[in-house]
Amino acid sequence: MRIDIITVLPELLKSPFEASILKRAIEANLVEVHFHNLRNYTSDRYKSIDDTQFGGGAGMVMMVEPIDKCITALKEQRDYDEVIYMTPDGKTLNQGMANHLSLKENIIILCGHYKGVDQRVRDHFITREISIGDYVLSGGELGAAVLCDAIIRLIPGVLGNETSALTDSFQDNLLAPPIYTKPREYKGWKVPELLFSGNFPKIEKWREEQAYQRTKERRPDLLED
Ligand code: ADE
Repeated sequence: MRIDIITVLPELLKSPFEASILKRAIEANLVEVHFHNLRNYTSDRYKSIDDTQFGGGAGMVMMVEPIDKCITALKEQRDYDEVIYMTPDGKTLNQGMANHLSLKENIIILCGHYKGVDQRVRDHFITREISIGDYVLSGGELGAAVLCDAIIRLIPGVLGNETSALTDSFQDNLLAPPIYTKPREYKGWKVPELLFSGNFPKIEKWREEQAYQRTKERRPDLLED
């Protein structure tokens, strides 16, 4: 998989890809991540990427031309499955979307800034608009990092234990059950006895019940659909 991220602040985005699982995925050539600074696609000497809104109103708008130039240059080199725009008015990211996107070959992610992009960008280039939650960030970069992390960890071979993504919260619309490790008892706090029984069908059943119970208490909305 190849991810091309278009941004005015590449430095804000780089560090998540330089540590831990994402770094290993890149080093193992399971994913390529490229950053494109929008300022390199400007045509005036001030390298402007934004301007005031037509019709008046506070806030700057990202101009169509540099974005067009950048996306067009990328598309000349390969086909893209998706051109995603990170925006608070997009569809809220969920595990289903991450699963779907992890199967794609090439994707572009455009990070918005200021008031956002000229509507013509959204009308003519964008195939999918994604929000990471109902709050406003100062730019799309942190959202793009979240999206990339959610996608990349699902690419086969990225996680050490192949089954571990399958037992994540949300994979079957349930939250994950409680988990424990050593020591067996700490300050008198005990691990449920059943987990030492060696009775794996029973342990599995207990985990399913716990997952259901947790979901019912914390996220009943997940059980509705
Ligand atoms: N840009 C600003 N706020 C955002 C959000 N909540 N999700 C994605 N991109 C954003």
